[in-house]
Amino acid sequence: MRLDGKTALVTGAGSGIGKAIAETYAREGARVALADVDLDAAKAAARAIGNNAIAVRCDVTKKAEITAAVAETVGAFGALDILVNNAGATHVNKPMLEIGEEEYDRIFAVNVKGLFQFCQAVVPHFRTAGGGTIINIGSTAGLRPRPGLSAYNATKGAVHTLTKSLAVELAPDRIRVCAVAPVATDTPLLPSFLGSAPGQREKFIATVPLGRLAQPQDIANAALFLASADADFVTGNIVEVDGGRCV
Ligand SMILES: NC(=O)c1ccc[n+]([C@@H]2O[C@H](COP(=O)([O-])OP(=O)(O)OC[C@H]3O[C@@H](n4cnc5c(N)ncnc54)[C@H](O)[C@@H]3O)[C@@H](O)[C@H]2O)c1
Repeated sequence: MRLDGKTALVTGAGSGIGKAIAETYAREGARVALADVDLDAAKAAARAIGNNAIAVRCDVTKKAEITAAVAETVGAFGALDILVNNAGATHVNKPMLEIGEEEYDRIFAVNVKGLFQFCQAVVPHFRTAGGGTIINIGSTAGLRPRPGLSAYNATKGAVHTLTKSLAVELAPDRIRVCAVAPVATDTPLLPSFLGSAPGQREKFIATVPLGRLAQPQDIANAALFLASADADFVTGNIVEVDGGRCV
């Protein structure tokens, strides 16, 4: 198994991509903490996984809750090797003039500040342990932005830049930092990205060379590679999982 003996904390693991990553890591031998603001969803996913998986309530916009989630995970598993910053939020697809200040602040708080503060919370543990891996879930939205998602697109651009910045800063500590950039993925978040106009799903699929949307498992497979020893010399990469959409 590719993650035997490893421990991982996955944010936003109650649903969609995060849940698939947690399931995949556990299947590959890792003990996994599923952190989510929706504790019931995290609990249900952890129960389904078994393998000593734990559910942790955590709103990634709250520094105290991040600190507590990391402490709870280290307390339960005695170690932490892998952090997956997956929790994310968006506004519905709409013109930039219709994005309100609160909405803008909330999306940046979840997607950027939460991710940054989670990195701050795990780095001391990784340093003590002699290394670690951080995987951020970015998006093709930060590489090839589509109209109507301006604030969300900007958060994912920030995620990609943070990934590269932290990769070079933390490399001397043997901490690898990578991102996965999924194309539109079949999760509960998808309708907000596509917007409500009829036929959007089919129109979008027509722009993907491999001719389909991503499934959460496609993203989990890339996150598994990046967390495994096979990626030992890989850091600072933004791995597009997009069926060729960004070519
Ligand atoms: N679905 C897509 O098309 C797509 C494409 C590219 C990137 N992404 C990114 O993938 C990640 C996962 O999205 P998904 O599509 O699986 O969405 P999802 O809605 O299925 O899951 C997101 C999870 O994050 C949790 N969450 C939201 N706010 C939180 C907070 N403040 N603190 C803790 N948890 C919180 C939710 O409760 C939910 O369980 C996000 O970062 C998203 O931006 C998604």
